[in-house]
Amino acid sequence: MINNIRESGTKGLLGLVGLIAVLLAVTGACTSGKQPATETQSQETGIKRSVFGKMPDGQEVHLYTLTNSNGMQVAITDFGARIVSILAPDRNGKMADVVLGFDNLPDYMKYNTYFGALVGRYANRIGGAKFTLDGKVYHLPVNNGPNSLHGGIKGFDKRFWTTTEIPGEKPALEMTYFSKDGEEGYPGNMHAKVVYTLMKDNALKIDYSATTDKDTVINLTNHSYFNLAGEGNGNILKQVLWINSDEITPVDATQIPTGKIMKVDGTPFDFQTPTAIGARINEDNQQLKFGKGYDINYILNRKGPGLELAARAYDPDSGRELEVYTTEPGIQFYSGNFLDGTIPGKGGKTYGPRSAFCLETQHYPDSPNHANFPTTELKPGETFHQVTVFKFTTTSK
Ligand code: BGC
Repeated sequence: MINNIRESGTKGLLGLVGLIAVLLAVTGACTSGKQPATETQSQETGIKRSVFGKMPDGQEVHLYTLTNSNGMQVAITDFGARIVSILAPDRNGKMADVVLGFDNLPDYMKYNTYFGALVGRYANRIGGAKFTLDGKVYHLPVNNGPNSLHGGIKGFDKRFWTTTEIPGEKPALEMTYFSKDGEEGYPGNMHAKVVYTLMKDNALKIDYSATTDKDTVINLTNHSYFNLAGEGNGNILKQVLWINSDEITPVDATQIPTGKIMKVDGTPFDFQTPTAIGARINEDNQQLKFGKGYDINYILNRKGPGLELAARAYDPDSGRELEVYTTEPGIQFYSGNFLDGTIPGKGGKTYGPRSAFCLETQHYPDSPNHANFPTTELKPGETFHQVTVFKFTTTSK
C-alpha cells in the first residue's frame, strides 16, 4: 500500500456534495492477504485513505495520504500519529521517499525504532525513570538503561489516534489521543492533539497541543528519520547539516544531561557552519562515544517564542534540502547510530547505522529533574503548544 502513494493523480470524479468517499481501487490489493482491498479519497480534502491494519482490540488503522499541488506527498497513520512516508523532489524534480519506515503495521508495532512517530508524553530521556512534581515522586517505566525513554513502554507512539480530515485549501489531518491519569506513570488526564498540514511550499506543518486536569510534565516531538538521498539509499554521512545553535546539554554515560551547558566551538558538535555529518563523527570525543555518534540536545538560538529556523540539511548529490522551523527551545540531533541493519525496512531494504538522521524539536531531555532547564510543566487551565515545520526545498550546492 505504501507503494501506492507513488502513483499520484487519481482523483475522485464524482461531484457529490460534502465529504464523499469514492471507491478508487479494488484491484491488485487482495493478493497478499495483508493489504487492504480499497482506497478512498475525500472529494473535499483530496486526502486518500486506506486500511493499514488493525490494533490488537480490532480497531481499524488507516494510512492517510496528503498531496499538494507540486505532487509532494506525505502519508500518515493513526497508529502513533506517525509519518510513514514523505515524497520530496530533488533538484531535477525526481521524487524520493526521504523517511525510514516499514511497509506494514505489524512491523511498526514490533520494532521500537520510533520511525516517524509522535513521541510523548515525554520525548527523550528522564533520568532514573523518575521525577518529582509538587513534592510527589512519580515513577516511570524503565526502558533505556536505568532511564525512561520516549514516554515509556507504551507511549503516544504506540497508541491509536482518532483522526479527522480537515476541509480546506491545504490538506490537513487532525489527530487526537486521550491519555488517562497515571498512564505510563504520568499524572493527569491529558487531551493531546496534533494537526498535520501539507503546505503549498512543500512544508509539512506539525501543530501539537495538549491540556491536563492535574499538574504534569510534557515534551512532544516527531521522530522522523530522514535520508535526503531517499530511504534505504546508503548512509547520511555526506549530507550537510547546519544547526542554529552554539551550545549543547552534555550527557553522562547513560545519556542523561549532567545539567551543564557546553559551548560547541572547536568540538565535533559545532554545526554553526554547514558541515558534513560524517566529517567528525568518529573523532575521539567522550560525548560522541556516549551516543555512538551524534545523539545530543542542542540549545537553539532564539529571538523569541515564535516559529524560527532551527536547522537546515542538504544532500549534495540530489540537492534535496530540509529546513526545520520550531517554537521549541531545543533539538535532539541523532545520527541513527543504533540502527544496525537487522530490521526489515520498506521494500525489504535494511537500514544500517547512520542511514538516517533525526532532528527532534523538543524541550531538553530530563527537564523535570533540572531546575535550570526551561520548564516542561503543564498545569490545569494551560494549553501546551508546539509547532514544528519540515520544509523541503532544493539546492544547487
Ligand atoms: C534518542 C536515541 C534513541 C533513538 C531511538 C533518539 O531520540 O536520542 O538515543 O536511540 O531516539 O529510540
